[in-house]
Amino acid sequence: MATYIVLLGPPGVGKGTQANILSKKTGLVHVSSGDLFRENLKNETDLGKLARSFMDKGELVPDDVTIAMIKDRLSRPDCKAGAILDGFPRTPVQAEALQKMLANFKGDVNLVPFISAAPSILIERVSGRWTCRAKGHIYHQKFNPPVVAGRCDVDGSELYQRDDDKAETVARRINVYLEQTMPLVAHYRSQNKLVEVDGTQPIEQVTNALLAEIKK
Ligand code: AP5
Repeated sequence: MATYIVLLGPPGVGKGTQANILSKKTGLVHVSSGDLFRENLKNETDLGKLARSFMDKGELVPDDVTIAMIKDRLSRPDCKAGAILDGFPRTPVQAEALQKMLANFKGDVNLVPFISAAPSILIERVSGRWTCRAKGHIYHQKFNPPVVAGRCDVDGSELYQRDDDKAETVARRINVYLEQTMPLVAHYRSQNKLVEVDGTQPIEQVTNALLAEIKK
């Protein structure tokens, strides 16, 4: 049976960083809604143009297009064994759609690690983040610097700062998270799927905490 893990948590808490590490350790595919939107922005697709108008303001892209994008991604053969979902679901409507989607694949959400940290930590992490242009590998100028400044360790591509990491957009993203995504904490807790992980710890310790929960 396929395994689906949903990483829940505020902007900048480390979902993408951890999903990438866990994907290597478990063999499950990392599916990031933010990365999929950024790929569409880069390729200037219609979806990318639509998504940009919401992402630049720190708002959520409408549920219907987001759900369709994730459904398409999870239907591909590399997700047959399951996936680590990062950034989806983000609203109760998306959570319901995910459950229906997975039921079609004879699966279900197995575990929801909720990674949390205070807003001051999130802002420090996001403002020092550098992202790889080619594949979205994530760095931090202080907490996880690349070996060569400005270049990705994995593929040598240029590192850039995301447009939505400007201070005023990050503040909006945190508020949107509190208003629209926080209800999912209670939703998954009521299903006994939620486990709380302290996101203020260093990267390796957060990984160890997540792996301990996955092994259970
Ligand atoms: P998305 O790309 O999903 O952004 P997000 O959820 O706001 O999360 P981030 O990518 O900012 O942070 P993260 O938690 O992955 O942290 P990271 O590992 O990078 O979404 C962007 C936009 O797309 C949304 O605003 C919305 O418009 C749209 N969108 C996406 N999904 C959508 C959906 N489902 N519905 C509707 N719209 C959607 O780490 C951050 C930094 O901290 C890095 O520099 C990292 O190196 C560092 N770091 C990580 N962990 C640690 C640690 N433990 N200690 C120290 N530093 C750390």
